[in-house]
Amino acid sequence: MRPTIFKRLVIGNMVMLGFLILVSAYVIYKLDVIQKLTQDIVQIDTRSISYCENLSSFMLSMVVFEKKYIISKDIDYYKKYGELEDEFRHALVALQTILSSEETVKEANDIQQLFNRYAALFAQEVGFINAGSKDYDSASFFSKRNQIASQIDGKLDRIIEMKNEVKMKKLLLSSLMIDQSIKLTVTISLIALGLGVLISITNTKAITGAIFLLEKKTREISRGQFNHIPSIQSAPKEIEELTRHFNVMCSRLKELEVMKTDFISHFSHELRTPITSIKAASNMLNMQLLKADPEKEKELSQLILTECDRLIASIEKILDLSKMEVYKMEWQFSHSDIVEVIEKALAKFRPVAQTKEIDLVFEAEKMIPKTRLDEKRMEEVMNNLVSNALKYTPEKGNIIVEVKAAPENEKIVVSVIDNGRGIDEKDLESIFEKFKRIDTGNETLRGTGLGLAISKHIINAHKGEIWAESQISKGTKVSFTLPVV
Ligand SMILES: Nc1ncnc2c1ncn2[C@@H]1O[C@H](COP(=O)(O)OP(=O)(O)O)[C@@H](O)[C@H]1O
Ligand SMILES: [Mg+2]
Repeated sequence: MRPTIFKRLVIGNMVMLGFLILVSAYVIYKLDVIQKLTQDIVQIDTRSISYCENLSSFMLSMVVFEKKYIISKDIDYYKKYGELEDEFRHALVALQTILSSEETVKEANDIQQLFNRYAALFAQEVGFINAGSKDYDSASFFSKRNQIASQIDGKLDRIIEMKNEVKMKKLLLSSLMIDQSIKLTVTISLIALGLGVLISITNTKAITGAIFLLEKKTREISRGQFNHIPSIQSAPKEIEELTRHFNVMCSRLKELEVMKTDFISHFSHELRTPITSIKAASNMLNMQLLKADPEKEKELSQLILTECDRLIASIEKILDLSKMEVYKMEWQFSHSDIVEVIEKALAKFRPVAQTKEIDLVFEAEKMIPKTRLDEKRMEEVMNNLVSNALKYTPEKGNIIVEVKAAPENEKIVVSVIDNGRGIDEKDLESIFEKFKRIDTGNETLRGTGLGLAISKHIINAHKGEIWAESQISKGTKVSFTLPVV
């Protein structure tokens, strides 16, 4: 099934929106990772390095003050050393809490042990000094502490080095991620753009292509060409529907065109024939050619009158049909007996039937109920049906007019049955269209092609139905129903 324009647009937009959400989600995720890395760098690595640098400078100062104290025995230097030792220990604890890698933690623990030894050695020497003892090896204490201090320094440098390495790695990773994100975002955006353009082009092409074709065909129609539009490949459902309706319109216009041509030819014949007769007759009267024969003269004036009546009748038919088509017909309904209406109509046709030696029979069931009728119009229907039967049935034929009440007296069914030339099955419906006449090449059978169309309008106005059944050369049965109300 072809998707509708609405579906196409929604799907196209959803695809692009999907890509946009994908790109955004990816960028947000990557930014989050990069932000964590940067935070790590700022809060852990840089801080660790600065702690290490502080520890290193505390160590250096401690060595200086401790030496000064030993040489001068000045208690202020000792106090200064004490303050530095506290600061060193605090800074070391702070460093240990933020270190996480195994190697750095081990180095920090080593520093702690080394520093404990350093402090113990110093305390020991201070003990000797305070006791006033002179026979201890001050140089050996000094060299041992110096050794420890440089070991601590080395380890602090090692941590700084490792932290710098980690920092570099993280920076590298961030820049790599930023690079990757940019590439991927650009790629996805390009794909989304390409896809969007592709979808837009296909949608626009499908819609405008079809519209162009319709426009071209409309122009053709305005020039009087009613060719069908072939099914448009890949057109949206609405356009497909539009094409279908367009083709129906073309067929209808074609039919109307044929009808128009038929009408002109039939109707001009229908008008021309009486006018020609009237003209010839009037001419003869005018020239007083038949002055000697008053009988013939009367015949001629009678002919003129009959032909004039025919003309008027034809024109009235056209006017009536136009009124019925726009529902402007005024109906005069009354509770009437259809049997009486039929009898009245048949009476007029008996002389014609006799001339053609046609047996015209009327068979009405007893107790046909009265119903709501426009008597004049219903008589017109009967005139049309019976005159058709007489017209299309050869001499010595049979015509039966039948009236029946359907079960439970719900409706009345009237049929006019003849054994005339019949109607081809394919024409059984179209004969009820206006101006429709089946061309048999028999020029003597005059008609407007309006009788059945008018009859159908009248029956419909009575809420009944009308239809024909027929077999070529066997005969025709035209029936209609009337609801009993
Ligand atoms: N009883 C019938 N037998 C054969 N053909 C008929 C009969 N009634 C109608 N038709 C066909 O239907 C056509 C339409 O009938 P109608 O509308 O009365 O127009 P018209 O009688 O003026 O031709 C006729 O031209 C004729 O071909
Ligand atoms: Mg007729």
